[in-house]
Amino acid sequence: MATPIVEFKNVNKFFGDFQALKNINFALDQGKFYSLLGPSGSGKTTILRTIAGFTSPTSGTVLFQGQPQNNIPANKRKVNTIFQNYALFPHLNVFDNVAFGLSIRHVPKDEIETRVMDNLKLVHLQDLANREINELSGGQQQRVAIARAIINEPVLLLLDEPLSALDKKLRQDMQYELRELQQRLGITFVFVTHDQEEALALSDEIFVMDAGEILQNGTPVDIYDEPINHFVADFIGESNIVKGTMIKDYEVEFVGKRFECADAGMKPNEPVEVVLRPEDLDVTTPEKGKLVVQVDSQLFRGDHFEVVAYDADHNEWLIHSTNPVEEDKDIGLFFEPEDIHVMRFNEKEADFDARLETYEGE
Ligand SMILES: Nc1ncnc2c1ncn2[C@@H]1O[C@H](COP(=O)(O)OP(=O)(O)OP(=O)(O)O)[C@@H](O)[C@H]1O
Ligand SMILES: [Mg+2]
Repeated sequence: MATPIVEFKNVNKFFGDFQALKNINFALDQGKFYSLLGPSGSGKTTILRTIAGFTSPTSGTVLFQGQPQNNIPANKRKVNTIFQNYALFPHLNVFDNVAFGLSIRHVPKDEIETRVMDNLKLVHLQDLANREINELSGGQQQRVAIARAIINEPVLLLLDEPLSALDKKLRQDMQYELRELQQRLGITFVFVTHDQEEALALSDEIFVMDAGEILQNGTPVDIYDEPINHFVADFIGESNIVKGTMIKDYEVEFVGKRFECADAGMKPNEPVEVVLRPEDLDVTTPEKGKLVVQVDSQLFRGDHFEVVAYDADHNEWLIHSTNPVEEDKDIGLFFEPEDIHVMRFNEKEADFDARLETYEGE
């Protein structure tokens, strides 16, 4: 195995009595796109600042390409950071903003010229080299910030919510560009966001954080299909989460009925939570449904109807239906055993992985 670019071992960070990072462990590989995803205050920026060397851990070890970094200052690390507000120099034009890092290192003029223009081409700004910063759109400023960050050829680029100031359409365009640029350059990106769709679309691997802890990490598909607990299931995409009982392996009970499912490895009759995604529920007649619910309301969402309904136990169900339904009427919900995802209460990631291993290998 190649040496990881960055490794955190048992990293803790206190601000006074407040613990902002709780025993963080991870290893990041060369050339991958990682996202830190979590609500405000969960510790995302603190992790980035710790990687960059703007803040140091209270305890634990940060390694960069296998070397401990605790005493290495920020400007000696092969890391670049793009902040939410881009921090461009307003009194310099596009070219000079991108050239800045090379100029202060006294790189020869003609080399600066070539490298700046090459980098501006990468972000499609070669025609705007002489523009003032305040004459650029938000998306163009974003690209200047990217060009300025990558011109130093960092092996690691840290991006702290770089797209949050952009409108929806531009944000989507920039998502494609960022992903494409990351793949072309082969640099490791660590991208901070609290937008779950953005993390799912861009990442090779996602770290879901809450209150200073990494709750789960995995590929977007793993995290979407196999959320480890209520928080992750709720935070990543829309979910229906109801309480149930694991009768035995591959059989779960909820809303007073028993269902075949694809999960195993729990205790008989263990209390659990059950997740069903709105898009995995098919609307049918009450006779053909595995569950019967009463429609409360619906909204047209362009490519589907979003239906809110209630079961006999008063649980709310969100359903994505291709056809409109009738309000106040009973409908049946059909789903496959593998659409049911069963979660244990308070299961930690290591136990979750070990449990999956035991029955997925069968
Ligand atoms: N210098 C500091 N002094 C004291 N507390 C701090 C300091 N920096 C961060 N914190 C606290 O640590 C916690 C984590 O902050 P952090 O900035 O990492 O959150 P975040 O996940 O990036 O949130 P956001 O999405 O709002 O940017 C917060 O409760 C914050 O108030
Ligand atoms: Mg932050």
